[in-house]
Amino acid sequence: MRCDDSSLPPVIGHRGAAARAPENTLAALRCAAALGCRWVEFDVRLTGDGALVLCHDPTLDRTTNGTGPVAAQTLAAIRQLDAGARFAPKFAGERMPALDEALALCVELGLGADIEVKAERGRAYATAAAVAATLRQPGAKLPALLVSSFALPVLAAVRALAPQLPLGVLFRQVPRGWREVARHLGCVAIGADQRRLTSRRAAAIRATGYPLAAYTVNDLARARLLYTWGVTSVFSDAPDIILRENAGHRAARPAPVREAALR
Ligand code: G3P
Ligand code: MG
Repeated sequence: MRCDDSSLPPVIGHRGAAARAPENTLAALRCAAALGCRWVEFDVRLTGDGALVLCHDPTLDRTTNGTGPVAAQTLAAIRQLDAGARFAPKFAGERMPALDEALALCVELGLGADIEVKAERGRAYATAAAVAATLRQPGAKLPALLVSSFALPVLAAVRALAPQLPLGVLFRQVPRGWREVARHLGCVAIGADQRRLTSRRAAAIRATGYPLAAYTVNDLARARLLYTWGVTSVFSDAPDIILRENAGHRAARPAPVREAALR
């Protein structure tokens, strides 16, 4: 299990490949692999009965034919829902996957997995514990992994429960104290909203050697600019647009991380 500069590629399929297939479904992971992605990002959150499912929103309404909070439903009830038809009729019948199913498919497809952990207020520890338990199951075959979150309590709990897991901290706006946060949590990668990232902050991050992944980039010109700033990966809903370019392009070769403990 490792995540290092050479394993995070220039393009990461976002929510699988959210512009090409229903986000956070197995179909989206297959689509990302078919488009040429080597890594995917997907979001996980806890159901009411403590299972982890791939879902970005706290509620079921936008992406499925269900309604209400994910946290109010059991895994069995969620598995009855359609998570594909809202995206396009041809995806009808697609289900919301559990984390272990998604990981098994990543192994099968040879995809690295950036597991972005979302947690409701008051459920940070329970969510982190479920992630750690899934990833520490004896004998589990795992893909290359990064566990990331905006929620610092989630990252701290994963660090405490499964110290070997590589962590990435996500920022909406990278704060002045980003380096202390990353160092304190033992993170090996930084994620940033590309709309609020500045070339100066990107350069400062890259000067310390951390890989820098920017979300969400669906425009080739923007990706090119971010790479010139030193951004090492972009998350894309339409990874094909950027992978076309990357076929002949290498993102800035990251300097070795001096502070983060790479595993
Ligand atoms: O993990 C990067 C990105 O997915 C964070 O934003 O809201 O799309 O989960 P969001
Ligand atoms: Mg996400």
